Amino acid sequence: MGTLSLQNGLLTLIIVGILAANVKGDCSCAANECCSKYDFCGTTAEYCGEGCKSGPCTTTTNDVSVPDIVTEDFFNGILNQAQGDCPGKSFYTRAAFLDALNSYNQFAKSGSSDDGKSEIAAFFAHVTHETGSLCYIEERDVPTTENNCNADYPDYPCNPSKRYYGRGPLQLTWNYNYGAAGKAIQFDGLGSPETVANDANISFKTALWYWMTNVHQSVSQGFGATIRAINGPKECDGKDHSKVQSRIQYYQQYCTQFGVAPGDNLSC
Ligand SMILES: *[C@@H]1O[C@H](CO)[C@@H](O)[C@H](O)[C@H]1NC(C)=O
Repeated sequence: MGTLSLQNGLLTLIIVGILAANVKGDCSCAANECCSKYDFCGTTAEYCGEGCKSGPCTTTTNDVSVPDIVTEDFFNGILNQAQGDCPGKSFYTRAAFLDALNSYNQFAKSGSSDDGKSEIAAFFAHVTHETGSLCYIEERDVPTTENNCNADYPDYPCNPSKRYYGRGPLQLTWNYNYGAAGKAIQFDGLGSPETVANDANISFKTALWYWMTNVHQSVSQGFGATIRAINGPKECDGKDHSKVQSRIQYYQQYCTQFGVAPGDNLSC
């Protein structure tokens, strides 16, 4: 018996090891494939059914129509807050968001209709904060010595003449995110990161890709968990209280606009 339970223990360790090796928040599936709850790509019910994270998932659990919530008025309400010289004003459009949404049909589809609406509120709260109300396309004041290249990701080698600073609605950053997003969305993320600042459809796709890959699964734990998933190491646990508060305020404002309660655990 002792031997048997030791064997079971080892088997469990091996299985956990195999799963953990693939769970890197890196669900770079082809366009026709689903990303399963374990971050594997495939087209059958195992991948596209229950727990499916992105791609053509077959599970939808509420009847929220995202375009009906993200109305022209709602979207322009954010854009109109942008003051002064704003490159984003002639770049970000609701049409580009809706185009990107077609590739992520599980966005706001988990849980109840109210859960869906609060996920939309959370997404746009982070977008509003990250871009200064859709004012900025590219990260400002990046030191010229910083290329945001992390060489620990051999699958996503940096192009030495490119820089991987923040771009787009959620300010996609780092070679490994550009590489993985490019693979999933089908653009040359490593060779042409500037695409995220030039093509609004792709720009919104990178934001929804990041959201569905790294944030969506935290939504049910409260808004604070989504802050942690986006910029936790720099803001949570008292590191940058004012940025956390800014995100929370936008979230509460959008929840009010959509007529849903913001829920608990707002901070991180
Ligand atoms: C962006 O998406 C819209 C709507 O699907 C489409 O009409 C437009 O051609 C796309 N733009 C680019 C640059 O692909």
